[in-house]
Amino acid sequence: MKAFLSLILLALCVGIKAKVFTKCELASTLKKAGMDGYNGYSLANWMCLSYYESKYTTNALYDNGWSRDYGIFQINSYWWCNDGKTSGAVSACSINCSSLMDDNISDDITCAKRVVRDPNGMGAWVAWNNYCKNKDVSSFVSGCAL
Ligand SMILES: *[C@@H]1O[C@H](CO)[C@@H](O)[C@H](O)[C@H]1NC(C)=O
Ligand SMILES: *[C@@H]1O[C@H](CO)[C@@H](O)[C@H](O)[C@H]1NC(C)=O
Repeated sequence: MKAFLSLILLALCVGIKAKVFTKCELASTLKKAGMDGYNGYSLANWMCLSYYESKYTTNALYDNGWSRDYGIFQINSYWWCNDGKTSGAVSACSINCSSLMDDNISDDITCAKRVVRDPNGMGAWVAWNNYCKNKDVSSFVSGCAL
């Protein structure tokens, strides 16, 4: 019971800082952060990636057992951020994974830019490969005043 209550409290605490962006709100935030055309990828590609990785949710967490993916861009704890429990982690963005879970996505954006500068580009994101690559992604920004 005590453990259950702490879980609820934890969920509430996390809930306060977390946020689900609307489509146009995220599109505008990413555009202001210089993502449109960054490393050759249009804003619509970034939006499609975010949709399929996290549904625009800032505290999205996926645990694959040996590492975890954090935040709106589902940034991985082996390659990019440090969660203190991923064996052999490279942590190339030099940030704490927990900072990728709050409603301020400016650090997520900085790290995602680092990820996309690698030779694989957006190919680093499985969801982008599966659902966005070579597709018409224009609907992810359509109707937004940008
Ligand atoms: C990351 O930040 C959290 C919350 O501030 C802290 O509890 C944790 O120890 C930090 N983890 C690492 C690996 O620095
Ligand atoms: C978001 O975080 C960045 C640093 O990562 C900071 O410079 C900025 O002021 C923060 N924005 C808000 C609205 O708190």
